Amino acid sequence: MTDQSVIGETDGVAVIGAGSIGSAWATVFATAGLRVRLHDTAPERLEAALGVVADRLDKLYARSLLAEPPRSIIGRIVTTRHLSDALNCAPYIQECVPESLELKQALFVELDRLAQPEAILASSSSFLPISRVASDLAGRHRALIAHPGNPPYLLRVVEVVPASFTAADVVERTCLLMARCGLAPVRLRKEIEGFVFNRLQGALLREAYCLVRDGIASAGDIDLLVREGLGLRWSLTGPFETVDLNTRGGIAAHAERMGPAYLRMGRERGQNDPWTEELVASVEAERRRQLPLEDWEARVQWRDEMLMALIAWRRQAGIGRPGGADQSDVE
Ligand SMILES: NC(=O)c1ccc[n+]([C@@H]2O[C@H](COP(=O)([O-])OP(=O)(O)OC[C@H]3O[C@@H](n4cnc5c(N)ncnc54)[C@H](O)[C@@H]3O)[C@@H](O)[C@H]2O)c1
Repeated sequence: MTDQSVIGETDGVAVIGAGSIGSAWATVFATAGLRVRLHDTAPERLEAALGVVADRLDKLYARSLLAEPPRSIIGRIVTTRHLSDALNCAPYIQECVPESLELKQALFVELDRLAQPEAILASSSSFLPISRVASDLAGRHRALIAHPGNPPYLLRVVEVVPASFTAADVVERTCLLMARCGLAPVRLRKEIEGFVFNRLQGALLREAYCLVRDGIASAGDIDLLVREGLGLRWSLTGPFETVDLNTRGGIAAHAERMGPAYLRMGRERGQNDPWTEELVASVEAERRRQLPLEDWEARVQWRDEMLMALIAWRRQAGIGRPGGADQSDVE
C-alpha cells in the first residue's frame, strides 16, 4: 500500500476545530503538500487561524525548516464555516474540538453522516478512547484516535489508537498519512484513557504536585530540575534508555539496585506496582535487541557528546543560565 491510497493528489484533508491543535494540524498537513479545509463554529477563531498559521510558517522558514515559501503553503488552506463544505470529498478528517465527551460524540454522529463513506474519522482527543466517542456509529470501523503532542507541527510523534472495532486498514492508512506528514506514528496495542503520552506526563505531574503539597520543593525548583536535568537527557533518550545508560550492566542492573527504592516510593503514594523479574526481563530483552551491552560504552559517549552539543546551543540561545531567556520563573 502506498500513501497515495490515503490522500490522492487532488484530495484534501478536513480539520474540524481551528483552535490550538486544529491550526497546528492545518500547518502540518499543508506543509506536507496537502490541501486543507479548516472548519470552526466560531467565526473569530476561523478568522484568526490563518494568521496564526502564517506567523508560524514565517518563523519556520526563517529557521530553514520549510522546503518552500510560506505563501505557497498557506495557499493550500481554506477556511469554511460549514461542516459539510469542509468534509466534501475529504478522505481524512482530523477532529480538534474541545475535550468534551458529549461534544465529540455529537460531532462524530455528524461526521459519520456527512463524510465520504470511506473517509477516516480521526480524533485528536487527549484522554478519551475512541470507543467512548464512536461506538454507536454505523461507520465506527473508520474511527480512531490520532493524538498529537502540542504543538503537532513541532513535536513529530503521534499516538494512533484504534478501538477493537476500528478496521485494520484504517489504522494502516492513518499511520501512512502521519509518516507522509513527517510525524512518527506510535500505534498503541490497546485502548487506555490518556494513552501513553499523557499517562507518562501524568505520572510526573502527580508526583510534582505531591512534592509541592508536602513542602519539599517549589514548583519553580521542580521545573528547574526537569528542565536542566531529566528533560535535557530525555530529549535524547527515553526513560528506559536513560536508566539503561545510567547503570553499568544496563537496565537489569538498574532494576536490581534501584527497584526496591522505587517500589517504596510508589507505595508511599498508594501505588503497588513492583517491577517483577518477568517484567524487567522483557524490557531488558527489548533494550538488548536495541543496544547490545558491548555497544553500551559507545552509546554513553554518544549521549554525552549530544548533551554537549545541546548545551552549546542552549548557551548561544541564552537558555539554562541565570538571567537567561528561560529564567523568568526562577527567583
Ligand atoms: N492543547 C493541547 O495541549 C492538546 C494536545 C493534544 C491534543 N489536544 C486535544 O485536541 C482537542 C482540541 O484542543 P485545543 O487545545 O485545540 O482546544 P481549543 O479550545 O484551542 O480549540 C477548540 C476549537 O474547537 C472549536 N469548536 C467547538 N465546538 C465545535 C464544533 N462543534 N465544530 C467545530 N468547531 C468547534 C472552538 O471554537 C475552538 O476554536 C481536544 O480534544 C484536546 O484534548 C490538545
